[in-house]
Amino acid sequence: MTEITAKQEDLIVRPSAGLSLRGTIRVPGDKSISHRALMLGAIASGETEIQGLLLGEDPRSTASCFRALGADISELNEQLVKVRGLGVGGLIEPATVLDAGNSGTTLRLMLGILASQPGMFFTVTGDKSLRSRPMSRVVKPLQQMGAQIWGRQDGSLAPLAILGQKLQPIHYPSPIASAQVKSCILLAGLMTEGKTTVTEPSLSRDHSERMLKAFGAQIEVNPDTHSVTVTGPAQLRGQKVVVPGDISSAAFWLVAGAIVPDADLTVENVGINPTRTGILEVLQMMDADIEILEQHSVAGEPVASLRVRHSQLKATTIAGDIIPRLIDEIPILAVAAAFAKGTTVVKDAAELRVKESDRLQVMAAQLNRMGAKVTELPDGLEIIGGTPLHGAEVDSHDDHRCAMSLAIAALRASDTTTIRRAAAAAISYPDFTPTLVQICQ
Ligand code: S3P
Repeated sequence: MTEITAKQEDLIVRPSAGLSLRGTIRVPGDKSISHRALMLGAIASGETEIQGLLLGEDPRSTASCFRALGADISELNEQLVKVRGLGVGGLIEPATVLDAGNSGTTLRLMLGILASQPGMFFTVTGDKSLRSRPMSRVVKPLQQMGAQIWGRQDGSLAPLAILGQKLQPIHYPSPIASAQVKSCILLAGLMTEGKTTVTEPSLSRDHSERMLKAFGAQIEVNPDTHSVTVTGPAQLRGQKVVVPGDISSAAFWLVAGAIVPDADLTVENVGINPTRTGILEVLQMMDADIEILEQHSVAGEPVASLRVRHSQLKATTIAGDIIPRLIDEIPILAVAAAFAKGTTVVKDAAELRVKESDRLQVMAAQLNRMGAKVTELPDGLEIIGGTPLHGAEVDSHDDHRCAMSLAIAALRASDTTTIRRAAAAAISYPDFTPTLVQICQ
């Protein structure tokens, strides 16, 4: 019997020799879409109804910030969350500090909204990890629009103080493909008279564009130049949002199914927005046996069931324009690569160094503790696949995606692995451990 035990913050995984993964599961709601549904609901007029919201710690941070800003958000649950919005420009000045917890998306997107509320004063902060993550990528373009923002290191680190202003529209050529940067500027553009445009070097996830359009904003997308324009001032109307399952959470089961002998798993109701499906393309390139079933569209987002069966993976190179389309899946792809024949190289992924942890450093160090052969590159990883992994004591560094990736690696390790601080999984996937127990046979 495979033993999976949660002990305080840690997770202990002892796989049995005959471990097999079987079953049909669902993953929780998409984190990016959950944040946006709460935020747009809060600044729209009328009521927004959200089905399938992710109940992870990150969307909880968004809900608590926007409650403090005056939005009426019902108790969070997966069935139905009701948001009574205040209208664009209708937020109230909170009497307390807005705390985004561990969530970069909460803080960076919210900054665009706050900076454009004339005359209102806000202070924002986050946990230790978020307070060390770069905010200049959003503060700089907002300052170009006329925003007043203060913080440590020339306004680049939270806590930040913001005095809302009437902003000027800009055309911002973003040096990085980041949906958080793009969304922050578009949200600031809602309150700004004229056309605010963001151009990215390659396309990042487009959930903001899709949802802003659905809420009634005037959005123009130019796919050839990776540009998005919002025309302000905009009025948003509350909508019904159905949140699909998060492909970034499904990714753990896709890799588990690919690397565990005899596995046969189906993950239902997974969002397969093309700006997020880099993981499917890479796993298919690695010879994973993945079927995309029952494709349909739910509230403007494509959804499918994904079936994965075990196969021998082969190494690949992951670089260039695909990186933003699988940015959150690189830790679990590193695990897949450790079981693939040959040497996998990940490049152009320096962004991973400024996520919830330095994911390149954490994944290389922790997988190597289990016997893998991973070398850190300045902007990626080199992984020589095929060396057998053994149980070890590893540490998530409080990073949800590293915690879950290491738990999947542990399924194919000889002996017992203890993942320290695995409870971080609750940021994006509170039921990760019960689901792991459910499919282990
Ligand atoms: C997100 C964008 C990505 C991603 C993060 C969620 C979003 O970050 O890593 O988990 O919801 O906009 P970057 O925009 O910094 O790449």
